Formats: sequence, structure tokens, C-alpha cells
Amino acid sequence: MFDAQFWMPERVNALAGDDSLFMFILWVSVISTGLIVAAMVWLGVRYRAGSKVNRVRPPSDHLGLEVTWTLIPTLILGVIWYWGTRDYIESSIPPEGSMEIRVMGQKWFWTFDYPEQGIRIQATEEIDAKKVAEGKPVGLVVPVDTPVKLIGSSADVLHSMFVPSFRMKKDVVPNRYTTTTFQATKEGVYDFFCTEYCGTKHSNMITKVTVLNKTAFQAYVEEAQEAAAGPVDGATVFASGGCAGCHAVAEGAPDGIGPSLYAAFGREERLVGGETLIIDENYVRESIENPAAKIVEGYGPVMPSYAGRLSEEELTALIVYLKGLGADKEAGQ
Ligand code: CUA
Repeated sequence: MFDAQFWMPERVNALAGDDSLFMFILWVSVISTGLIVAAMVWLGVRYRAGSKVNRVRPPSDHLGLEVTWTLIPTLILGVIWYWGTRDYIESSIPPEGSMEIRVMGQKWFWTFDYPEQGIRIQATEEIDAKKVAEGKPVGLVVPVDTPVKLIGSSADVLHSMFVPSFRMKKDVVPNRYTTTTFQATKEGVYDFFCTEYCGTKHSNMITKVTVLNKTAFQAYVEEAQEAAAGPVDGATVFASGGCAGCHAVAEGAPDGIGPSLYAAFGREERLVGGETLIIDENYVRESIENPAAKIVEGYGPVMPSYAGRLSEEELTALIVYLKGLGADKEAGQ
């Protein structure tokens, strides 16, 4: 109970310092609350109605008392300020030679780019579930005992990356970069949350950090590099873009946040504003790059733009894949 690991997960980050500041603030709060409640109870009993106690008010200016109750809290806050600032600065500066990983938050998934290794990992609920089923490393994959510098950004609104086991929390913000750092001390799989409310599926914006030994990490990187060199597959683009979070692709599946894409080509769609159109390649392309341009009636303008995020090759592969969905069925049925 006097050790933070009593109520927090095991700490596996060599750069995080210990949890003593947390424990200090916690016990200062517990003791202050205890003293205040004790004083309330004591005064309540002593001055209850009918008690025979001296009710004459003493003079209200008591210099010694006022200095004491100003000085003690100020000193405690000063200690917390100094301690917190020092630890915050220390935990924000990545060690020289850290491995760099770029983290992008987007409604509602994470993208991890490894510029040195030339690989990219996408983490959506669907991708993660598939990796778990296949026994593959999930989410952000890092080697053990290696300092890592995370450079975070956001494609839309505020998100925040939070790994309790690393005691690490940092906002990712549109139009600027934020940095944080960690060095995992133990192989394993740890929770990675979005901890800033970011809309409908904020609570699904969850993935993992998988810490591998250095040999396994090297093998993982090589496999990922090989996979990335292959031809582009539209189904993979669909999955890694996080599209499945909002769009159903199976026959009869209920609509998600966006319209179902099963047998969508050739379907007549009514737009917000009453206009109608037949879904074709150009409409799909426009909806990927500029989703707000023509919104199907009954849906909101919530889809993020993928302009510049997909290469021409990926965009074409994606459209070919979407066009193939239910193409054997009669259009619009
Ligand atoms: Cu992203 Cu909450």
C-alpha cells in the first residue's frame, strides 16, 4: 500500500523514475483530508446544539496561526512543484541515439511509422484482433532495453497516448509535434490507450505495446519490410486505413457510422440536400479524399480525409477492392 505497484501495473520503463512523487501527493492528500474531516467531526460534536460550551468568539486576528497555515501548504506545494517539474523534464528528454518512431493519432486508430526501418504499423481493433488470433505482435512493437523517442502528431483532433505500465502519457495534437520517451525493461504486452476524449469511438482507440527481445524485433522488422515490398492489395489498404471501423463490407451487415460498402457500386444514393447520384469510381474517390463534399442522407460529416495519406497505387487498389464487393449480386439489391 505504500508502494505504487500496490494499485498500479508493474512499472517497466527505465526512464520513468519511480512512483514516489505520486505516493507523496497521495499521502499528503489522504492526511490533509483526514485532518479536515477529524476537525469537522470534533467541532460538530463540541458545538452541537445544547452543549454547554463557551461560545464567545475569540479575537479573529491570530498572526501565528495565519502564518502557519499559509506557510505549511506553500512549502508542500513548492516541494511538489520542484519535484514534478524536475521529473517531467527528465522524462521528456529522449537519451542520445534513441530509436525514433512517429505516432499518428486519427479518429479512431493509431499509426506507427519507423523511419529508420521503413515500416509502418496500423493499429485498429480489427487489425489487432487478427494479429492476436495469428499470434503476431500487436500494436506498437519495440525492442527491450532500447531507448525509444516517440514523436506524436494528430490528423484531426486532440488524442493522447497513454501506457500505464510505462507511466507515460502525452497528448498528440494537430499541426505540431510532441515528443516523449521510454525504455522498456521487460518483454511483454502492455496496454496503450487514447486518453483524451476524441469523439464517438474514443473508447475503442485502444491498442498494445509489444516489447520483444532484440533478435525477435529484428526478425519482426525484416518480415514487415518484406511484406511492405509486395504488391498493394486493396483489402489490406481497407484494413490498415481503419475503414472497417465505420463501413461494413459483408452482405447483410448492419450499417456502421458510415454507409455499408457491400455491393455499393451502381447503387443509387440520396445525398444530404436531396440530390441523388449513382455510386461510381469517381464518387468513391472523391469521398475518400474529400468526404464532406457529398454526404449520403442519414449520415454525418465525420469521416476524416485520406487525401495525401494514400498513394495513387493504394487508392486504385482500394477502389478495385470496393468495386469487387458483392459485384456478383445485382447492383442495389
Ligand atoms: Cu483518440 Cu480519444
